[in-house]
Amino acid sequence: MLEEIRIYCLEAKDSSIKSNKDAEAFKKRFLSKSGIVNSLFLRFKKLSNDEKKAVGKDINLLKKICQDKIKFVKSISSSNLNSVLDLTRPTSNFTGSTHPITKISNQINEIFKSLGFYISSGPEIEDDWHNFEALNLPKNHPARDMQDTFFVKTQPDILLRTHTSSVQVRHMSESQPPIRTISPGRVFRNEAISSRAHCIFHQIEGLYIDENVSFIDMKNLLFVFAKKFFGNDVVLRFRPSYFPFTEPSAEMDVFLGTETLADYRLTKGTGWLEILGCGMVDPKVLSNCSIDQEKYSGYAFGMGIERIAMLKYGVKDLRLFFENDLSFLKQFN
Ligand code: DAH
Repeated sequence: MLEEIRIYCLEAKDSSIKSNKDAEAFKKRFLSKSGIVNSLFLRFKKLSNDEKKAVGKDINLLKKICQDKIKFVKSISSSNLNSVLDLTRPTSNFTGSTHPITKISNQINEIFKSLGFYISSGPEIEDDWHNFEALNLPKNHPARDMQDTFFVKTQPDILLRTHTSSVQVRHMSESQPPIRTISPGRVFRNEAISSRAHCIFHQIEGLYIDENVSFIDMKNLLFVFAKKFFGNDVVLRFRPSYFPFTEPSAEMDVFLGTETLADYRLTKGTGWLEILGCGMVDPKVLSNCSIDQEKYSGYAFGMGIERIAMLKYGVKDLRLFFENDLSFLKQFN
């Protein structure tokens, strides 16, 4: 009898009640005078005292499941019954909102758009040429180690792009200067996940190619951007760096300080957080992409959106952006 009751419990729990007619049928089957619960109680009366102990508890459980189900159905007004149980219907008290990373990305895009840049995009699954070779990163080049790669397939190598610099290559190969574009997108690296790094993150690549473009044009543009984005009080520094696809290369840092332990960790004790890499596009990269390196020069930059979002919102752990915890996300509405 116990097994029988268990099966009835499952049936009651799983019954789908989509209309008043379904509700009546359910009540009739389980809770009416001649229904299952009553007939179980009639059989119960004939059991020995020991058996009654175990079986009685389970029959009461079944009765409760059935009553709760009917109560729930009644709590929904009859006219709403069908629509409330339509799980594809949006609820009235929940409104979606923009993810903080999308928000920051949109803000950055708007600033560059106001400075004359247009938006371009490229694929997340790339070939070796666009992600590495054309950017002066031949096979076995040690700088490839900086971007540990997820391969989709080898020989020929197809991979998840490790940076949005691949879009520069595509864009330059398909159009001629003047080029003034930014390319936001998702990138992938086989990295250990920590408060500062993730295996999936977002970047915005910038590219400006024309006649007589200089390093100081780039520096000015990036300072204007940072002041527009973070406010005039932002403390910035430009540092020499190395990237195979730019010469000379630099990185731009924003000052965060080391007052809290989280800031100390995030900035590795320096107080400075790197937000972008940049430089003058290497002439070899221009010619790899069929741009006349005698006539044109240009600059490129790439920034990490999560880093910038962390700075802007004071978020100390990058992983929070990927966990989809509503209580975290709601703060940015
Ligand atoms: N692609 C680089 C990275 O992911 C960032 C970068 C540096 C992009 C310098 C550039 C650049 O366009 O000029 O680390």
